Amino acid sequence: MKSAPQGVRHLYVHLPFCAHRCGYCDFVTLVGKREGHGAYVDALLAELELEREVLAEGVETVFLGGGTPTFTEPRELARLLDSLPRAAEVTVEANPETVTPQLASLLRESGVTRVSLGAQSFDPRLLAVLERRAGPDDVRRAFYHLRDAGFDNISLDLIYGIPGQGPSDLERDLAAALALGPEHLSCYELEAKPGTRFVHAWGAELARQEEAMEGYFEQVVETIVAAGYRWYETANFCREGRQAGHNMAYWLGRDYLGLGIGAVSTVGELRWRNAPKLAPYLAALASGLRPPRELEQLDGPTRVVERLMLGLRLDRPVPLAEVAGAVEPGALDRLERLGLVQRTVGSLGLTRRGRFLGGGVTAELIAETPAKDYN
Ligand SMILES: C[S@@+](CC[C@H](N)C(=O)[O-])C[C@H]1O[C@@H](n2cnc3c(N)ncnc32)[C@H](O)[C@@H]1O
Ligand code: SF4
Repeated sequence: MKSAPQGVRHLYVHLPFCAHRCGYCDFVTLVGKREGHGAYVDALLAELELEREVLAEGVETVFLGGGTPTFTEPRELARLLDSLPRAAEVTVEANPETVTPQLASLLRESGVTRVSLGAQSFDPRLLAVLERRAGPDDVRRAFYHLRDAGFDNISLDLIYGIPGQGPSDLERDLAAALALGPEHLSCYELEAKPGTRFVHAWGAELARQEEAMEGYFEQVVETIVAAGYRWYETANFCREGRQAGHNMAYWLGRDYLGLGIGAVSTVGELRWRNAPKLAPYLAALASGLRPPRELEQLDGPTRVVERLMLGLRLDRPVPLAEVAGAVEPGALDRLERLGLVQRTVGSLGLTRRGRFLGGGVTAELIAETPAKDYN
């Protein structure tokens, strides 16, 4: 599969710096290092210049993810935003405690159109378990600073299945998030990475939460849909027309360019992942070279399987013509009979029950996955 001849229309920029490291997080992050933010922005812009030829003239979405992009020195963050291509959707991930009226105005004046705010929970006890810096009032304050600065497209991230959380705590978290009236919500089940100090600290409780996760997922979907949001992707909900355009590009199998340490790019038949270490990244770009990275050749069938797996996360059908080679016909018939998959003319999607079972159904649909008992 070749990249579109017009070039790549989706740009991801990784800003890894955080004030501290939350116990559950395994993203590519660096604590503090304020004195190094300027050099990192220089390196990002140098990498952009080296890769500029793969970008289309009209970039559609830009996403600044982290780490904590809003922890970046404001002057450096503004310099970066001013130097990136203009786009109809420019999203920045923000941690509540970093959002002041000044920061909100800086984002707005630098062309940011959408902010994804990491609330995670509104319960001080659960926020402490997650080792978050922000309390519930910081989340609310940040939200209103963003509204006051003119943002009409705000997303809140929530996590569920936190040690010590029960269904009534989750109900309160969902109610608190909905009370703010965000345009978009992302709700993730807590993933505990084996071997982390978080798992060490909360092992038995995490195992208990794992068993309750399916129930929490249904509670999340039912509550948010009842509040009038569209469940448009497994973990994502929006007001009509407010899907996350950048993430939609991933789920629809579009090409994207990623800049920064640990960032991934997929362009035509090539995927590359920049090494996560800061020093070699800075050194290479200071010498005018591409940073160290892993390359992966993507053949057509691999991209088709990815297209199917990601496409079925959405509430819109996947055209069969785009994924036909990846679907096992016997599994398709079986899953359709079980009411987990539905075929319409020329396309394929999961039913509501299929969406709750999610990845397992998709895996079975892909040629050569052993059958499961769904009864
Ligand atoms: C790149 S991360 C962090 C963004 C931002 N620094 C923050 O902490 O809010 C984006 C989102 O991924 C989710 N996330 C991070 N680690 C997770 C984990 N272990 N399990 C589930 N969700 C996680 C959180 O909801 C977070 O807001
Ligand atoms: S602030 Fe966000 S990115 Fe940084 S460590 Fe915490 S969860 Fe991870």
